[in-house]
Amino acid sequence: MNRRPSSPVFALVSTLCLAVPWARALDDGQARTPPMGWNSWGHFRCDINEGIIRETTDAMATNGMRDAGYAYIIVDDCWQIARDAEGDILPDPERFPSGIKTLADHAHERGLKFGIYSCAGHKTCQGRPGSRGHEFQDARQYARWGIDYLKYDWCDDGGQNARAAYTTMRDALKATGRSILFHICEWGKNEPWRWGRSVGHLWRTAPDILDAWDVPSPERGLGIAQILDQQVGLEKAAGPGHWNDPDMLMAGNGALGIEQYRAQFSLWCILAAPLIAGCDVRKIQPDVLALLTNKEAIAIDQDPLGKQGRRARDDGDAEVWARDLRDGSIAVALLNRGESATRIALHWEEIALPPDAPAVIRDLWRHQDLGEFRARFEADVPPRATIMVRITRR
Ligand code: GLA
Repeated sequence: MNRRPSSPVFALVSTLCLAVPWARALDDGQARTPPMGWNSWGHFRCDINEGIIRETTDAMATNGMRDAGYAYIIVDDCWQIARDAEGDILPDPERFPSGIKTLADHAHERGLKFGIYSCAGHKTCQGRPGSRGHEFQDARQYARWGIDYLKYDWCDDGGQNARAAYTTMRDALKATGRSILFHICEWGKNEPWRWGRSVGHLWRTAPDILDAWDVPSPERGLGIAQILDQQVGLEKAAGPGHWNDPDMLMAGNGALGIEQYRAQFSLWCILAAPLIAGCDVRKIQPDVLALLTNKEAIAIDQDPLGKQGRRARDDGDAEVWARDLRDGSIAVALLNRGESATRIALHWEEIALPPDAPAVIRDLWRHQDLGEFRARFEADVPPRATIMVRITRR
């Protein structure tokens, strides 16, 4: 018989669980560090097909990205077209004639993992069939196809309770017996940082990112700097197995300069954000590839302590962001949001170092030790750019 315990101790524990804002983590061993990969939406939007996915897989397996840690190839919206008479989800036969399993196999044979997209509504954001009412059936299909990652969107939500809807899909994925990373994508609308860790491995914290620094109107999404502002204060929610997701990396999409993309990358590393490339990696330029595969920067993002960084100072256009690392060192990004170059200083007290403590500083983009400093460190930061350093106390 399936009886719920009703002792006073149980009642007390339940009450406490409900009262504590940070729910228990899934702790299923996945995503111990922020997931890394590529997602088709960042560059291709709905205009995808199996050739693009296969060629992207091949490029990532050979251009250094896989070896730098980019593990997941994620096919976003528009791969699906209808359901068959049994209700099974069908890929678009014109764009994906070989089917999804073939693409997942292709990725697996090249040492990569494979992700897919669906939505908690009846329809996805592009009007394709969503998973509402088919959660367990879809999850079983994904497992049969060899899917390793599900991004689960929130269009056509029909007034559902977000936590309940995402929990249903979490349970459906779990019931397959396959390890599938679960990406909650409801854009921060229902504060998933309060409940997401018991439901998924990462959750979007903000609207869609656009290939822009700031956008004047937010209808279609936000620029990098605007998304960054929405991350302030969320750092407590992240940790091994459960991450805040400020959305994809825009490097390589072309609307901004390399300094702005480097700024995004640096800050995303400080934020312990998932590193999901969103460009056409088949045609990636050498400077963008070097940016995305900077091992010293990636090591900050993937630091095993898993402690998300924070904004340590906000002086208008000049900001200091800092992240504690497992070896006791501190990663710092000096961000200039303004349109002219400026000198930004970091003071030891902002990163909890005693003022007279000597510390060695390494520039993580120039790959150079800058020497030993006490009390403060200053650098000239170009417009809309970041300097990122690692500070190790002597
Ligand atoms: C939403 C998501 C995006 C993308 C699109 C696809 O807008 O936030 O990341 O998945 O849907 O339609």
